[in-house]
Amino acid sequence: MSVGIDEISFYTSNYFLDLQQLAEVRDIDVDKYYKGIGQEKMGMPAPDEDIVTMAANAAYPLIERVGAESVSTVMFATETGIDQSKSAGVYVHRLLGLSANCRVVELKQACYSATAAIQMACALVARQPEKRVLVIASDVARYDLDTPGEATQGCGAVAMLITANPRLVEIDPEVGNYTEDVMDFWRPNYRSTALVDGKYSTKIYLKSLKQAWEHFCTASSLAFNDFQHFCYHLPFTRMAQKAHKHLAKLNQSELSPEMLDLQVEDTLLYNRIIGNSYTASMYIGLVSLLENCKQNLEGKRVGFFSYGSGCVAEFFSGRVVAGYEQYLHSARHQAMLAARNAVSYEEYLRLYNEVEPTDGGVHERRRESTGRFRLASISHHKREYVAC
Ligand code: CAA
Repeated sequence: MSVGIDEISFYTSNYFLDLQQLAEVRDIDVDKYYKGIGQEKMGMPAPDEDIVTMAANAAYPLIERVGAESVSTVMFATETGIDQSKSAGVYVHRLLGLSANCRVVELKQACYSATAAIQMACALVARQPEKRVLVIASDVARYDLDTPGEATQGCGAVAMLITANPRLVEIDPEVGNYTEDVMDFWRPNYRSTALVDGKYSTKIYLKSLKQAWEHFCTASSLAFNDFQHFCYHLPFTRMAQKAHKHLAKLNQSELSPEMLDLQVEDTLLYNRIIGNSYTASMYIGLVSLLENCKQNLEGKRVGFFSYGSGCVAEFFSGRVVAGYEQYLHSARHQAMLAARNAVSYEEYLRLYNEVEPTDGGVHERRRESTGRFRLASISHHKREYVAC
């Protein structure tokens, strides 16, 4: 019996800032963004949108198909949680009308936790193959204004059904892990934006790739050349290109520009115009590959490198299932991306500076988001979510 990703759907905000606008205000050559870090646009959540609404919007099309009663567990991965105690997944559970007998939990380890969720979901399904686990990853990436990280902001959520005999990607049981206590990127409880030692974080990312890959090689008989495509964690798309060159070099493999393109480029298309979505970003990269690769991916082996600052990393592998194309949500995803609205720099500042009230008063949020679920108010310290 195989276990893996049966269906996958993502969601991002209807607002984005073109990095051309940011480049003009910051007096930076736009090619530093477009080419140097490989980002064109960054998603900005509307004030009535957060990790819960994005998650519910990502998951709804999956639940519509399989039925709310069929999900046994929800694992919600995020590093931009909205509550220290209650799982964001419990709000999503109500919005989606899931069964009262469904368990729900939130997981955290920077951008890595969606991968932990997937591995745990696979283990649950291996034990009870009739179960269906909903893994959701949802984040809003925020850095201080006028810092090197600013242009790598973004937001998005991805929802995946993990089942036995999956219709999209079978996940192999062998993994390679690497954990080290480092301070490359973190966000203390009292801050709404991340702190980051940018250059150091890219070095630790590459070091973790090497270590996780080497550990993977002790567990799996697969070699570098057995993989046709690679999905990397995507803080910005240029990072994946650098990572792939690094991995090829570690394996003494010649990597022509054409091969780099073929093995990585299709995974980058959505993230380049959404920005970093932390836990969701590698899996939005997988959707981008499945929906945009011109070649038939049936039977193709995909390598995944998941990285969460702090840090925990994992290399694992998957194989694309025959007939996968029939179960993608390509048209809906592409329509959503095409319908987004560009904001001006002033609008961006308004969205950026939107504050979360802490006074316990009644704070309604006017409708600006375009998804099915929205944050209607924060009143008496409680978040009120509604379906539109
Ligand atoms: N035309 C083309 N390229 C240009 C250019 C121009 N006009 N101007 C600059 N560039 C190139 C530079 O040469 C450089 O290329 P190389 O990387 O090949 O040297 C690239 O653009 C970036 O320029 P800088 O190195 O000067 O950029 P920076 O220092 O201002 O910012 C960064 C880069 C430190 C990564 C910053 O974006 C950052 O802090 N980002 C947030 C942290 C991050 O994403 N870290 C990634 C690893 S951690 C992780 O993965 C977890 C996570 O999700 C956060």
